[in-house]
Amino acid sequence: MVMRKVDLRSDTVTKPTETMRAAMASADVDDDVLGHDPTAARLEKEMARIMGKEASLFVPSGTMANLISVLIHCEIRGSEVILGDYSHIHIYENGGISTIGGVHPRTVKNNEDGTMDIDRIEEAIRDPSFEICYPTTRLICLENSHAHSGGRCLTVEYTDKVGELAKKHGLKLHVDGARIFNASVALGVPVSRLVQAADSVTACLSKGLGAPAGTIIAGSKSFISRAKILRKTLGGAMRQVGVICAAALVALEENVGKLESDHKKAKLLAEGINKIKGLKVDVASVETNIVYVDIVEELSITEIELFKKLEALGILVMPEGPLKIRLVVHHQISESDVLYTLSCIQVINILGFHYWLLDISKMVREKAQCFSISDSDERKIFLLVF
Ligand SMILES: Cc1ncc(COP(=O)(O)O)c(C=O)c1O
Repeated sequence: MVMRKVDLRSDTVTKPTETMRAAMASADVDDDVLGHDPTAARLEKEMARIMGKEASLFVPSGTMANLISVLIHCEIRGSEVILGDYSHIHIYENGGISTIGGVHPRTVKNNEDGTMDIDRIEEAIRDPSFEICYPTTRLICLENSHAHSGGRCLTVEYTDKVGELAKKHGLKLHVDGARIFNASVALGVPVSRLVQAADSVTACLSKGLGAPAGTIIAGSKSFISRAKILRKTLGGAMRQVGVICAAALVALEENVGKLESDHKKAKLLAEGINKIKGLKVDVASVETNIVYVDIVEELSITEIELFKKLEALGILVMPEGPLKIRLVVHHQISESDVLYTLSCIQVINILGFHYWLLDISKMVREKAQCFSISDSDERKIFLLVF
């Protein structure tokens, strides 16, 4: 019986590679709070170049990167930011922009493709002549790729249009680019061009790129100088941070090139799952590395039950609320992991989605033999024989 672990919970679960660990061990470091860590400086210079901005700054997380960016653009308490109702900043960041920054969120509906209608954004901009009652709009935030819509990409044309709208009304534009490299690869547009219209942009190093930690904020020199001060205020300035930045430099070198294959594997997974009775994936919407799966009601199984059945077979996924699970592909998921996952979902399906958790693994052990075959490319295919 072959039993392995396939961790599809998120692209944040990757483990540092041997090359990353070696780079970390030999990193040239110094006190970065004093501004002297050479490896951090090298990473920040390289990321500013890739993102086409004057400067960049390494911070511990995507959440802190977004918080710092929003707080700088909305320095005056009571400023308002326009952002998607399913944006990460609005849903998953503890409302930090409000609780810490005194920034008021004005949400606009996120469409299925992660965009917000430009007309609706414009309608949401406050009329400054009524400032006696209204907060003042100062910022628009976009998210690319858009996580909650399944990693869909905002095109350069769309981002440029939102940028023009922001300029017309004297507002700033921030892009939460936690997965901007995925978007860039999927669209075939350089990151710098994709975020040209943005005043600030973030890029997570610890998601698709596979570094152990860290996010970059990029913007103008004066923006980054202010970000550095705010990073210290929030406790995010770190001393010999070059140890982590060294791994991020390896991630840039080795893993950007793997994103296209991650996207292909996500598509393979999506197409395979969509063929399984009782599960549905909008295959066309899988543009990058995230796959959302809907469980049809007639199956009478909750997302938690399905998650537990998969977990019993070594497959980790994320339950995402009523009758939905999420699977995310990253560079440590191979094509054979995808095929194994599809085989296991099929097995659960064949045995019936209603078997108890322990029964499933027991039945697989008793009734099925699992063979793994390697082809000439060392790709593994799993056969479950009953
Ligand atoms: C779109 C997006 N933005 C920001 C973040 C926050 O990143 P972190 O977990 O590093 O705080 C995430 C995390 O998953 C994300 O998906």
